[in-house]
Amino acid sequence: MQIAIDGPAGAGKSTIAKRLAKETGYIYVDTGAMYRAMALYLIRNGIKADDSEGIEKACVNADISIRYENGEQIVILNGENVNGLIRTQEVSNMASASSPNPKVRKKLVSLQQKLAETADVVMDGRDIGTKVLPGADVKIFLTASTAVRAKRRYDELKEKGEECDLETIEKEIAERDERDMNRAESPLVRAEDAVLVDTSDMDIDEVVGRIRELIWK
Ligand code: DC
Repeated sequence: MQIAIDGPAGAGKSTIAKRLAKETGYIYVDTGAMYRAMALYLIRNGIKADDSEGIEKACVNADISIRYENGEQIVILNGENVNGLIRTQEVSNMASASSPNPKVRKKLVSLQQKLAETADVVMDGRDIGTKVLPGADVKIFLTASTAVRAKRRYDELKEKGEECDLETIEKEIAERDERDMNRAESPLVRAEDAVLVDTSDMDIDEVVGRIRELIWK
């Protein structure tokens, strides 16, 4: 069983996907975390997003894998658990800037497809319904207005005690959307057979309920 959830940053993909995984017993695969681990490797090694030669080498040298601990996905970069290091704005921006690279996508899409071969999955990302799992049983395109998504990100960071500014976050989200939707390689686009769910005026329970209907219909 494969459930694909795509959509822009801050639409609520990971919250919803985690809840669904818990309910169904399927594995939650957060593909954004893999692009983030790759971005962390690039930052640490001073490789710029437009340095295609550097990125090609990085794809060979950065060993990215995932494992599960108490149902939580742990991303391993060259043997190190990097879960606690990949949620910064710097990493977000680098992940968005480096993920259009075809070598990066090839490497990570293959890892994602292998995972889905071995287990039932709820997988979220940008190209799951279109590229990674085109034959997924259920495809959801989750979205919300830019203002609502920025406010959710802001609340999330505040709760973690991180300094942040709502206006900057909204601007960065708009820039990320622009890049994610307009890149040549696997742009963020709703698969023809994906169901659109706009979460701007919905709470988590309502969204989960709506998707549950789609899974069990
Ligand atoms: O979902 P996220 O915010 O953790 O993703 C970080 C970046 O990774 C996002 O800006 C685009 C990229 N990404 C992607 O290109 N394809 C995916 N399947 C998931 C994420």
